[in-house]
Amino acid sequence: MALKNLVVAANRLPIRQTYDAHGNLVWTTSPGGLASALTPVMEKAEQVTWVGWPGQNVSGKLKPFRAQEIDLIPIEMSAIEHENHYEGMSNGTLWPLYHDKVVSAVFHRHWYDGYSKINQRFAAEIAEVIDEDSTVWVNDYQLQLVPALLRSRAPKASIGFFLHTPFPPAELFCQLPWRVELLEGLLGCDLVGMQTPASARNFIDTLETLGLGASDGEVFHHKGGTTQIKAFPIGIDVAKYANAAKSAATEKRSQEIRSLLGNPKFVLLGVDRLDYTKGIEIRLRAFRELLADSEIDPAQVSMVQVAVPSRNNVKAYERIKSEVEQSVGNINGTFSTVGRSAVEYLNQDQDFEELMGLYRAADAMLVTPFKDGMNLVAMEYAATRFDNSGSLILSEFAGAAHICDGAQLVNPYSIDEIKAAILHAIRMDPIEQKTRMEILRNSVEAHDVNIWADSFIETLQSKP
Ligand code: G6P
Repeated sequence: MALKNLVVAANRLPIRQTYDAHGNLVWTTSPGGLASALTPVMEKAEQVTWVGWPGQNVSGKLKPFRAQEIDLIPIEMSAIEHENHYEGMSNGTLWPLYHDKVVSAVFHRHWYDGYSKINQRFAAEIAEVIDEDSTVWVNDYQLQLVPALLRSRAPKASIGFFLHTPFPPAELFCQLPWRVELLEGLLGCDLVGMQTPASARNFIDTLETLGLGASDGEVFHHKGGTTQIKAFPIGIDVAKYANAAKSAATEKRSQEIRSLLGNPKFVLLGVDRLDYTKGIEIRLRAFRELLADSEIDPAQVSMVQVAVPSRNNVKAYERIKSEVEQSVGNINGTFSTVGRSAVEYLNQDQDFEELMGLYRAADAMLVTPFKDGMNLVAMEYAATRFDNSGSLILSEFAGAAHICDGAQLVNPYSIDEIKAAILHAIRMDPIEQKTRMEILRNSVEAHDVNIWADSFIETLQSKP
């Protein structure tokens, strides 16, 4: 695969500006795994440029610069632009709409106007650095107008878009007042990648419902040309997690964690962004009922819930945070003893080493989102179980459910199903447990992220 000039566009740059303890602006790794997912293709490209938001709203000060062998082009936003584009249209309108309206989607014209303005800013910067040999990879729901804006300026460039979230059924998407604009934005692409075949079908179905063209298998014909639409389920860098899991430092930390928890017989773990799509509150209810019914003994079973802070300024996130925290307080008030909490709750980001220790310390991992594009946490946990220990309880509505054979699949809305799956994990026959984990690890390995990135770019380059 020869890649001359690769331009990545994503809402965030791979590094972001944050304030350190002394109030100085410093660069740190951005949240999310996009940079590591794209590393294999970035390494194969002669030149890589990444266009994105630098993480702070300090408009007009940052010039393009080079870091980690990538040319970085910061797209700055004022506080109000950030509010309209990111908190508003991206995370108040599109995020809930694309996750089956777990909470209501809010439609505001000024949010859309802000979104459109920021998308134009991205397109204008990208247009400056591309020619007809360039390959442009646009990522995610924050930038859906960018492809068509670019197409009008660079008719021959290869333009691909990957949606990291689900794409909703037509009847939901069609509620969006700007549905045609967003779809036509994506039709500027040669290739649109989705996480699952179901999302790819929803997308084609929506295009046809609105009469924007006609499909011929995975190729969609529209007035401006053709766009291929295909599922490319993302994966993780399996070797990175498997190797880290085997290190002496991880082994030591995982034993420390178990001993800090009071050496319980069984440790349940949840690791999520604190998002209302993740089903954390139902999971806690299931755990609470099991304790209340004496089905499990808080002296024998501990639960650790990591809830990484996210999108704090969006109303629905404030609400889910207080709901989860009330529930944790209630469980601990009722079932903890001095020095021993029934639920250990961490509303903080965890570094890679700590995450490895937690994964290795956990006998079962609970991943129960109401809706999720993929969910990489489920795969990360599996990749750390090199000895085939542990088990995974996984929502049937996560994209990962199509990949993670061997997991116990549950309906994340069913408290009873989650309770039964927890009990089954605790009481599982060792042969069933090992067999399931071996199957799970093999399926996660078969979807390594290197395969994902390569196959997306190869498909994009092999356009007719
Ligand atoms: C998650 C989603 C991505 C999304 C990202 C944005 O990782 O799966 O689809 O792009 O969040 O996170 P942010 O912190 O930038 O809102």
